[in-house]
Amino acid sequence: MTAEPFLDLHPATETMLDDVLNGFATTPRALPSKYFYDAAGSLLFDQICELNEYYPTKTERWILETYVDEISAALGDNIVLIEYGSGSSIKTRLLLEHLNGLAAYVPIDISKKHLMMAARNLEGEFPTLPIFPVCADYLQDIDLNLTGVLSKGDGHGASSVPTDDGAKRSKEPSHLIFFPGSTIGNFNPEQARDFLKRVHHLAGNNGHLLIGVDLVKDPKVLHDAYNDTQGVTAEFNRNILHHVNHQLGADINVDLFEHRAFWDESAERIEMQLVATDHQKVDINGSVFAFNAGDVIQTEYSHKYRIEGFRALAEDAGFTVDRVWTDPQNLFSVQLLSTI
Ligand code: TRP
Repeated sequence: MTAEPFLDLHPATETMLDDVLNGFATTPRALPSKYFYDAAGSLLFDQICELNEYYPTKTERWILETYVDEISAALGDNIVLIEYGSGSSIKTRLLLEHLNGLAAYVPIDISKKHLMMAARNLEGEFPTLPIFPVCADYLQDIDLNLTGVLSKGDGHGASSVPTDDGAKRSKEPSHLIFFPGSTIGNFNPEQARDFLKRVHHLAGNNGHLLIGVDLVKDPKVLHDAYNDTQGVTAEFNRNILHHVNHQLGADINVDLFEHRAFWDESAERIEMQLVATDHQKVDINGSVFAFNAGDVIQTEYSHKYRIEGFRALAEDAGFTVDRVWTDPQNLFSVQLLSTI
């Protein structure tokens, strides 16, 4: 693999300063949740995933492990697995190991560096799997045509995938987009529909989306998942302010903010906030903002869905829901959608 992506859409590189200034200009103030994930934030999120209270990661993994053979059977062969994110997770490996008809893997990431690193690691672990890294973000339309590259017969294409049916080999590969973690819930419903429309386009004819969707449930279970007793979630939420301080040389007194997460019954979402406990003035690259006790910074929404509500959203974007797998307690769902 070269150091260059297979396809580079040159996503706009992040400008944290603009994002923070814009976010602090709204009422209530807000910060984009992508800034949770600096090195410290990523470690804290890994810790969240191990917490007893935080059921989504564990439950999704259980569903995938339990039903991966059914998922594989539902997909057939000559599949190109496409994933937003660097694809370094356990869940991706599970699919790479267990999907029978896999012809290629396409990781998509906004960071060229992370993208190429993840691709190179996977290349080492799955030496016979063709990998086509794409540098792009969630908001870009991606046109991907691998038919040519996969049928060249260079020993790394679809034709090298063992199959007892010669006719299937020449068939166009079908796209499977994998979007785990209920990240769809971090969009508001309108953004979620727009995102699903772009995914529908990328999936193309005869394409699929395998998506993790967190479900509406007992508010106590939801509350505890975002308010763990050890305070890891609180540290994770507050870390976004440390990240802003480090990156922009800002002087936010993080000790004067506390974590708040609550279930909004009518919007069916968890709302994450940082609440000022005292007054302070903060200097962000020369712009000064005053905070009073009780002032809120909005950090993330985590929408939960009902099976029928998500189906309506999926259909709105042009998908059909083929299969829904859940755990015995109906905490979480993994859904297989198709474009036809
Ligand atoms: N995307 C995750 C979720 O919605 C992130 C998350 C977990 C999170 N716990 C949090 C975000 C606490 C902010 C605060 O579940």
